Amino acid sequence: MTPASKRVRVPDLVEMKKRGEKIVALTAYDFTMAQIFDRAGIDILLVGDSLGNVIMGCETTLPVTMEAMLHHTAAVSRAARRALVVADMPFLAAQITPELALRNAGRLVAEAGAAAVKIEGGRPVAEAVRKIVEAGIPVMGHLGLTPQAVHQLGGFRKQGRSPEEAAMLAEQARLLQEAGIFAVVLENVPAELASRITADLRVPTIGIGAGAGCDGQVLVCYDMLGLSQGAIPPFVKRYAELGAKMEEAAREYAAEVRRGEFPPLAKTEEA
Ligand code: KIV
Repeated sequence: MTPASKRVRVPDLVEMKKRGEKIVALTAYDFTMAQIFDRAGIDILLVGDSLGNVIMGCETTLPVTMEAMLHHTAAVSRAARRALVVADMPFLAAQITPELALRNAGRLVAEAGAAAVKIEGGRPVAEAVRKIVEAGIPVMGHLGLTPQAVHQLGGFRKQGRSPEEAAMLAEQARLLQEAGIFAVVLENVPAELASRITADLRVPTIGIGAGAGCDGQVLVCYDMLGLSQGAIPPFVKRYAELGAKMEEAAREYAAEVRRGEFPPLAKTEEA
């Protein structure tokens, strides 16, 4: 796929993996940024529940609701002309029953315009994944550091370090593939393990802090644009320093207003 080509669809991603073409994903939460990323040729716009962190200012993604996901997904969907819009299923939206998971996934597609949903976790969500896929909604998996399980994992730390953990992650990836996922995010796992899982699966892997061996990469846009103010994960590359630029612009505006320089006097008032 070239950045200028037609809309990215789910089957295109498997074809890209077969061709060895890297898949580019970025999070997006609002109309304006989504328009910019879409124009830039990003293949997947992920409306991540990381909006809990970067938009809402929460320490975890746990407070993010279905209503918040619907609101932001609708804004991103309105902007996307080419990119595939994937919406995160927030905490407990997919875990209670497969029926409730299907209803929530259906809302993100029907009400908010997502083309697919993403669900964190392995075996415990496999039945929900199967049910949603059978209903015709594509599902992206998410393994490794799954932020909705932060308390169980004991913090935002690398997963799959021990041989046992690594074997379990590889097994869960296969299980999700059997359940019907079209791709899987591998977050914060050793690069060697991510490469092994990538070679083992038919469906593409999208890495974040998982090395260069994945079929694609995703980053949180606020982190890579230099908008996030606190600590950011060490694997993030900051492609711009927009936070500093915005602060500078806001300071200049404030100074000009206080000095009476903005707005400029109208011609008639000057005369
Ligand atoms: O919520 C999110 O932004 C995500 C990505 C980090 C993969 O799940």
